[in-house]
Amino acid sequence: MKIFLSGIQPSGALHLGNYFGAMQPAIELQGQGQAVYFIADYHALTSVTKPELLRKYTFDVAAGFLACGLDPARAILFRQSDVPQVHELAWLLSVVTPLGLLERAHSYKDKVAQGAEMNHGLFAYPVLMAADILLYHADAVPVGKDQKQHLEIARDIAQKFNDRYGEVFRIPEPLIRETTAIVPGTDGRKMSKSYNNTIELFAEPKALEKRIMSISTDSTPVADPKPVDGSILAQLMQTVGTAAQYETFTARMRAGGCGYGDLKKELAAVTRDFLAPFQEKYRRYQAEPAEVEAILDEGARRARELARPVLERARGATGIGHGR
Ligand code: ADP
Ligand code: TRP
Repeated sequence: MKIFLSGIQPSGALHLGNYFGAMQPAIELQGQGQAVYFIADYHALTSVTKPELLRKYTFDVAAGFLACGLDPARAILFRQSDVPQVHELAWLLSVVTPLGLLERAHSYKDKVAQGAEMNHGLFAYPVLMAADILLYHADAVPVGKDQKQHLEIARDIAQKFNDRYGEVFRIPEPLIRETTAIVPGTDGRKMSKSYNNTIELFAEPKALEKRIMSISTDSTPVADPKPVDGSILAQLMQTVGTAAQYETFTARMRAGGCGYGDLKKELAAVTRDFLAPFQEKYRRYQAEPAEVEAILDEGARRARELARPVLERARGATGIGHGR
């Protein structure tokens, strides 16, 4: 059976980019093999410095994943930190990881360019991510396009380990959906928590509408046709709307006579309807935290079972332990 694995950092409120880039594809795969999904709280420590916030985000991502359709009867959902063995594997991998490979990572280079204070955690981030993937013998990893390079690094590390110690790890394949590879944010850049341009999955209807009304548009007069190519509104409608809703919306844009304010209201209404069932389930999970915790505990138990033999093999291959 194929193993699908992915992780989401609990570093802020979930948004449409997370849903279409990572969560929806991951949820769709849960019937096609063993899905293993986790909340990457160790990774989020590189950006979230308040403990109570990390705990809240971790819970919210778990509740969000469940609300969006993750089925705990089929998929394994767990907290990364409930399987701390991942750090042992990260160490075994770090000794086969060339420095140059990490120095070339965009995420690290971006942080340096932004003048962020560099620490070892940020630099070693891709090694821990490789350990996440290799510890569960993942075959395929559904992620957004921005994670492509991290996946390549994980493959490189797995290959280097196998070259030195024999065939221990499966080489994982990235699964990147081209259509929704990058969901634009309200300012047209990639939707991201770090750009403050997100449309949150669990925002109240009022806040949601306000956010959508703030989307950047050009200065085409109301009477004129609106350009569809490159329009943030059209791209977002394509993600949240049905094909018919998208057709109607872009036809209105092309016809002219309709201002951006009205188009945004329409997008807000479609987005609200799209999110309503998720929001309802989310409120239920927020009201029943023990239910979410029980799902995470059971997920961690199953994840540890998958991890144990893989870690044993990796240890044995390197000469760590007595080997009996
Ligand atoms: P953020 O950029 O908001 O910090 P993360 O880096 O935590 O988001 O991303 C979590 C997952 O969601 C990753 O798999 C990532 O590729 C995906 N993702 C995030 N933003 C987008 C986006 N705008 N479009 C598509 N996928 C995205
Ligand atoms: N780095 C990923 C992100 O920011 C999160 C992540 C951590 C992950 N470990 C992973 C994704 C393993 C896929 C597989 O989105």
